[in-house]
Amino acid sequence: MHLPTVLSVVFAAAGVTAQLNDLAVAAGLKYFGTCGSEGNINSDTTYRNILNNKSEFGQLVPENGQKWDATEPSRGQFTYSSGDIVAGVAKQNGQLLRCHTLVWYSQLPSWVSGGSWNRSTLQSVIETHINNVMGHYKGQCYAWDVVNEAVNDDGTWRPSVFLSTFNTDYFAISFRAAKAADPNTKLYYNDYNLEYNQAKTDRAVELVKIVQAAGAPIDGVGFQGHLIVGSTPSRSALATTLKRFTALGVEVAYTELDIRHSSVPASSSALVTQGNDFANVVGSCLDVAGCVGVTIWGFTDKYSWIPQTFPGQGDALLYNSNFGKKPAWTSVSSVLAAKATNPPPAQTTTLATITTAPPAQTTTTSRPAVSTTSAAAPGGAQQTRWGQCGGIGWSGPTACQSPWTCQVLNPYYSQCL
Ligand SMILES: *[C@@H]1O[C@H](CO)[C@@H](O)[C@H](O)[C@H]1NC(C)=O
Ligand SMILES: *[C@@H]1O[C@H](CO)[C@@H](O)[C@H](O)[C@H]1NC(C)=O
Repeated sequence: MHLPTVLSVVFAAAGVTAQLNDLAVAAGLKYFGTCGSEGNINSDTTYRNILNNKSEFGQLVPENGQKWDATEPSRGQFTYSSGDIVAGVAKQNGQLLRCHTLVWYSQLPSWVSGGSWNRSTLQSVIETHINNVMGHYKGQCYAWDVVNEAVNDDGTWRPSVFLSTFNTDYFAISFRAAKAADPNTKLYYNDYNLEYNQAKTDRAVELVKIVQAAGAPIDGVGFQGHLIVGSTPSRSALATTLKRFTALGVEVAYTELDIRHSSVPASSSALVTQGNDFANVVGSCLDVAGCVGVTIWGFTDKYSWIPQTFPGQGDALLYNSNFGKKPAWTSVSSVLAAKATNPPPAQTTTLATITTAPPAQTTTTSRPAVSTTSAAAPGGAQQTRWGQCGGIGWSGPTACQSPWTCQVLNPYYSQCL
């Protein structure tokens, strides 16, 4: 408890609260986020208030509302009433939106999965779906999960109407259609159990290479991070796995992180283990240059998909069912804060003193006299959308390409939005 106290002084002095997204951004990530559960947003005020808090969650993703069965339940009939719920919350609060998901074998209406298609008709169905759904959300999504869960755990390609019709050609077809529908969003492949760096991970690496070899665009790989307390890989093993993908020139993110107990209620020692596991996952993202952020798959144990899917298991999130912060919340906040207070070498000396300095000094020394906006933009360069355009220690461009403007998210990070 001592560490958070010191940190709260440091961050209060810096105008940054010791909350997860603020800390994550101060630590160099683009966001710390959560999925939002469409059904609970308007019925549970406590839930909604925490979800609304941009200091805690700088990014939201709809849990179900943008999936195929929600957006195009029958052919050519598009509906966005569910998908717009979380998108609307994010827009209202100025939170980034991850969008999820387009081409997936599950939550796929039977008119698609059971249809009788040839390549030409199914390609048209995919393109129409992607064009409409991405068109509806155009400009709102930081990233889209274009293809989801195309690989089995044993490393074989997962059977689906898409695989049986196209073999692996549906990857490039989908990514190309996505690029055409919204050229300014990051296009992701997203899957679970990539964290273990086994046959499934090898196949996902191959998937990225297949898309790239076809000349189609792919920007990122989402590690869903549905993990189990006590069997989560170490921080360094996780970082090694993330780097297999960044080495291919794509960014990575944890997109659906939850770490479930194999049996509940969890003992107090299991809660500590869960905290360590969460810290290892978040820490691995901090350790890899191309890892942009962490999204948890819900924040409260009150609402989670786990108990329905894995009976007897659960309590996989950072807040308990009464919205109290669990030990895992403190672990995540601590690992983020440790990185945030230990920025690049030039500032290390200054900041190292801070943690031992009395509060009165903290106020003056913890804010290096860097006026971020006064740093001249080299050559008048303009940052692209989503790019960093200011913040403590930032020496890159401070102007944004039109029509984006440089918005101060906190003292450490301004972004072209
Ligand atoms: C977010 O939550 C923190 C901690 O409860 C609180 O201090 C802060 O005021 C909240 N921010 C907003 C915008 O409600
Ligand atoms: C695919 O199916 C459609 C509709 O049944 C048909 O018009 C078209 O000729 C078929 N294409 C090929 C290449 O078989």
